[in-house]
Amino acid sequence: MNYGHFDDAHREYVISRPDTPLPWLNYIGQDDFFGLCTNTAGGYSFWKDSRLRRLTRYRYNNIPYDLGGRYIYVNDGGSVWNPGWMPVKAKLDSYECRHGMGYSRIVGSKDGLEVEMLFFVPPGRNEEVWKITVRNKSGAVKKPKLFAYQEFCFYEALNDMTNYQRTWSIGEVEVEGNAIYHKTEYRERRNHYALFACTRPVAGFDTDRDAFVGLHNGLHEATAPFAGKCSGSMAFGWNPVGALEVDLELAPGAEESFAFVLAYVEQGEAPKFDKPFVMNKEVGHATLARYSKTSDIDATFAKLGAFWDGLLANFQAELPDEHANRMLNAWNQYQCMATFNLSRSTSMYETGIGRGMGFRDSNQDLLGFMHMIPSRARERILDIASTQLSDGTCYHQYQPLTKKGNAEIGGDFYDDHLWLVLSTCAYIKETGDLSILDEGCGYADKKYKLGADGKKIKAESLLHHLETSIAYTMKKRGPNKLPLIGHADWNDCLNLNCFSTEPNESFQCAGDVKDSKAESVMIAGLFLYASREMAALYDFMKRPDDSKRMMKSRAEMMDAVEHAGWDGEWYRRAYDAAGRPIGSKENEEGKIFIESQGWCVLGGAGADDAPEATRGRARKAMASVDKYLYTPKGVVLQQPSYSTYHPELGEVTSYPPGVKENGGIFSHNNTWIHLGWCLLGEGDKALEYYLSICPSAKQDEIDIYRSEPYVYAQMTAGKDAPCFGEAKNSWLTGTAAWTLVALTQGILGVKPGYEGLVVDPCIAKKWKGFKATRKFRGAEYHIEVKNPKGVCKGVVSVKVDGAVIESVNKAALLPIFPQGTKHEVEIVLG
Ligand code: BGC
Ligand code: NOJ
Repeated sequence: MNYGHFDDAHREYVISRPDTPLPWLNYIGQDDFFGLCTNTAGGYSFWKDSRLRRLTRYRYNNIPYDLGGRYIYVNDGGSVWNPGWMPVKAKLDSYECRHGMGYSRIVGSKDGLEVEMLFFVPPGRNEEVWKITVRNKSGAVKKPKLFAYQEFCFYEALNDMTNYQRTWSIGEVEVEGNAIYHKTEYRERRNHYALFACTRPVAGFDTDRDAFVGLHNGLHEATAPFAGKCSGSMAFGWNPVGALEVDLELAPGAEESFAFVLAYVEQGEAPKFDKPFVMNKEVGHATLARYSKTSDIDATFAKLGAFWDGLLANFQAELPDEHANRMLNAWNQYQCMATFNLSRSTSMYETGIGRGMGFRDSNQDLLGFMHMIPSRARERILDIASTQLSDGTCYHQYQPLTKKGNAEIGGDFYDDHLWLVLSTCAYIKETGDLSILDEGCGYADKKYKLGADGKKIKAESLLHHLETSIAYTMKKRGPNKLPLIGHADWNDCLNLNCFSTEPNESFQCAGDVKDSKAESVMIAGLFLYASREMAALYDFMKRPDDSKRMMKSRAEMMDAVEHAGWDGEWYRRAYDAAGRPIGSKENEEGKIFIESQGWCVLGGAGADDAPEATRGRARKAMASVDKYLYTPKGVVLQQPSYSTYHPELGEVTSYPPGVKENGGIFSHNNTWIHLGWCLLGEGDKALEYYLSICPSAKQDEIDIYRSEPYVYAQMTAGKDAPCFGEAKNSWLTGTAAWTLVALTQGILGVKPGYEGLVVDPCIAKKWKGFKATRKFRGAEYHIEVKNPKGVCKGVVSVKVDGAVIESVNKAALLPIFPQGTKHEVEIVLG
């Protein structure tokens, strides 16, 4: 089946039928106000924190999956339908959904009436706009009635969906003119409310769900739209909704545009009430005043377009591959904005009431975001760092609103702290801003330190955190001198210390075996990388002694990796609590894992210039990945998948073979292999592997793949699963950032460095070259790479603005230029 296509010129994915194989999602919002919006206008909205400031309601795991959202019902002479098909599901004469950068536009038509809904959040604003355009394409006068509907949530989403003994008694609203003010809990501790309004006069409203929908009805048969009128209900308790009726009269060929606005309003210092029970609505009025004319609505939408044009302009390319091209120029960068903003909190698979921001997740998400808005990256790094504890462990997750660590999940995932080194170094390379290292972010358990005079002074600096992180891994090592794993490392499901036999407990947090010494080779590889990053940072800071100190720790770790980590054909994954290897030919199942191949290779183990005894192991390890783990649909996480549950290995063995961490194609870790191929100069492999998981390349098998073809999914079922090739958990995955890194820094080889912009491509031999425009430290580099001899790697000449510059180690090092300048770069491979 064909469900749609890319419109690359407009950076849109065009969905041509509403019954997609899964709900195909987009996000609206880029700063603080966000909404989820599916191709049938399903979804919900929240401000900053999907759990603590949920504005509209959503029911999970609904039947069908995609039910509840921003619904417009049309009653055209008694015929009731929705332009987005749901929830009435009347047969439409035409339907189209365009998911674009920060907006979704859904157009449906029936019997000569066309209704277009454009959903977006203007940059910097705390409201979403539903611009509606109604066109009479028939030959007769039409008098359609439109009913906009969405259900309010009582802000704290978990309480909202579980605590009815309270929530069904607290709902309050006020109606004024064309606006519905949702003020539940406003009389007491909240200083904020939600507002749903129309920019043109309304013919009616409802605020009580039972009145609008009908006590015994589903949304597909809602009372008011079918009756053709709202009843003016005033919610008192139960379930407040925002429903507004607009009655139109359109001559043949006529059209009319207006908007509904859903706003989150913070009252600030202004008095909360004008008189008892009557809110002071000044801030709300000011919000609505911004949209009084259709031209205002269009102007804010144009700002959104300009915002995205500006962001994406930081990195654009012309590549010989259409998939890589569109992912880089639009969708992959766009997905990076979503993961940066939302971490793993809220999607069609993440409820927004569980995980907040993940420590390791957000650090990795930053890697794909730095180049877009470095100032926001800076702030995020400091927020994350301050959820680290002074002993070096980290809160695994924190709430975006409070920025406080989540105590239920706690810490002791012994990879977490190392990702902070990666994100910080990447930030400094991007910006040159060393001052971030001096920021006093403080530890979660120690916000201040004592000065010489015994007085509290500013908290420990970010650099202190990085040192603590490195020291912590060195300190927490096991019998093989490899890092201890704790609850888990990057692979949350490799729980070597939990031994859980009780279904009612967490695989990760049910308590670690006392004094367990389970070790992780993957963390060791990550440490090789992180310590080398630290050394390079110290070199840049002209602190050679510190740099040497880092390299000494790295050498110690390298020894452990090459002694205890090598299995003969690949790197082992771990040692369990009893000291047995995991990911070894000695194992019956789970003989080889992907993560340790990726990280040991990227960390420099077994490199071509290593001492003779270990030289070439990286190539061997990668060849084993190719032989045992690669499939044309991506690299599976491990092989053979576990067929039975092992308490000593944890959650990884709980999944059926071929899914999730048990032998699924976990896209995130595939990208480390892509980078590994680039490191080894294998450009053909890098591109082949890159394309194997690229969503844009999945359109020909979309009925198997099922997920959105424009963003990455966390997982595709592996070869051991009956549904091999089926993707799940789209959008919020570390794949977004790492794929962008793999493509831009690995394949295209355009990487920020401390001393300049490095260009060291590793492309497929068949690529004749490519062009890229990269903004770096305020200057713009127009780079053309030529590959006349059909090689993968190796820069032989570099010209900048016509002048030849020396290449360094067969790579180009482009100088840092003054802000605002533009430079032509020509690079030849050979
Ligand atoms: C998932 C992992 C996740 C872990 C921890 C597992 O069920 O498969 O992807 O990281 O839960 O929440
Ligand atoms: C998803 C989690 O968010 C991430 O932190 C973890 O690394 C992967 N799953 C792998 O388990």
